[in-house]
Amino acid sequence: MKGLPCLTFAWGTATSAYQIEGAVAEDGRGPSIWDTFSHTPGAVDNGDHGDTACDHYHRWPEDVALMKELGTDAYRLSVAWPRVVPGGDGPVNAAGLDFYDRLVDGLLDAGITPSVTLYHWDLPQALQDRGGWTVRETAEHLAAYATVVAERLGDRVTQWATLNEPLCSGWIGHLEGRMAPGLTDLTAAVRASYHLLLAHGLTTQAVRAAAPGARIGLVTNHSTVTPASSRPEDIAAATRMDGHTNRWWLDPVYGRGFPADMRELYGVELPERPGDLETIATPLDWHGLNYYFPATVADDPAGPVPYATEVRLPDVPRTGMDWQIDAGGLEAFLLRLTEDYGVRKLYVTENGSAFPDTVGPDGLVHDPDRTRYLEQHLAACASALRKGAPLAGYYAWSLLDNFEWAYGYDKRFGLVHVDYATQRRTVKTSGRRYADIVRAHREATSG
Ligand code: FCB
Repeated sequence: MKGLPCLTFAWGTATSAYQIEGAVAEDGRGPSIWDTFSHTPGAVDNGDHGDTACDHYHRWPEDVALMKELGTDAYRLSVAWPRVVPGGDGPVNAAGLDFYDRLVDGLLDAGITPSVTLYHWDLPQALQDRGGWTVRETAEHLAAYATVVAERLGDRVTQWATLNEPLCSGWIGHLEGRMAPGLTDLTAAVRASYHLLLAHGLTTQAVRAAAPGARIGLVTNHSTVTPASSRPEDIAAATRMDGHTNRWWLDPVYGRGFPADMRELYGVELPERPGDLETIATPLDWHGLNYYFPATVADDPAGPVPYATEVRLPDVPRTGMDWQIDAGGLEAFLLRLTEDYGVRKLYVTENGSAFPDTVGPDGLVHDPDRTRYLEQHLAACASALRKGAPLAGYYAWSLLDNFEWAYGYDKRFGLVHVDYATQRRTVKTSGRRYADIVRAHREATSG
């Protein structure tokens, strides 16, 4: 990437367990809230679910070979809690741990550094039945499960993340109801958000205790927020949306506590105990930013919390998710984490785009839109680096087309196409382009 001065830049791809593994009832795995949600009629487009997904549980050697073919040297995966501790707490399932043990060894043999996320939304259903993220015990159970994983893999894995996108678990899962567990309850959502961040802090400490030398971070997703007009009402709405989407998830982690304006707006008492804020603000080794799109918002007093509605701008480029394409937002957020929150090491842990790809008569998948998206966002990374962001790596979302949550399999984010009927993988043109960029950067910075 032109202008990328960092010598030890990690070039990776990312996936998550439920989205690719399949094998949901194999080797002792217990059910998760996503098994339940995806089998709830009407919850997921086309009635899709992750029962088989990309069958990565069986095909992982082929997938590691694909990472190698792309020339990547890093891979962000998640461990499925219901594989390792099927009941959420209690007995450990040795076969589940063995799977990740083999995968980590396979990655290291291929020269690929694993970055392991401990929670990418697949809460064991047994814990949901006892209150899920609305109760404090769930945070303690995450830390206990993380200890088991770190004790097993910590001799080979150094790069760890606690949670993926707590905003989605908290707000989309408990307030908007579009993701598991599918609730629409503000009190539950605020309590869940609190316990998720508490879980993050407890898990950071647990992993450090179990695996000395671990470098641990948090992965959050953000959007830059712009008011739809210069009307004071819209400007205030943008401040509220920024609080809801960004500050609520960052301020406590960086020692500022939960933002007072948002506490007042939600009007829900936090289940706070002495010492919690210090736990939540346990210092981190790095921060992972997942960036996909910006937001433009207008005041919406009658609308749902936070009384700000997203305005759909006309005549702007969009992906197949209908998400606005704006690489400037990635640069801006990397700089905000650097300058405003004082983050000392950053990764782009997810960034990518869905388009309706097909395998052409030539057997290839031509995806110029995704290629352009990739190039624009990598240019934004280079620009942020030049301006001082301590960016140490980029993980493209995603290695493979996969189960895109409530959208099912129609939305394809992969650099590699998956034919779900045959499980055949085909590297897309964007994947080839990524491989070229990685190779060029490596050549330019070696020696
Ligand atoms: C993020 C998720 C990831 C994937 C992408 C498209 O919100 O972390 O699992 O679904 O969006």
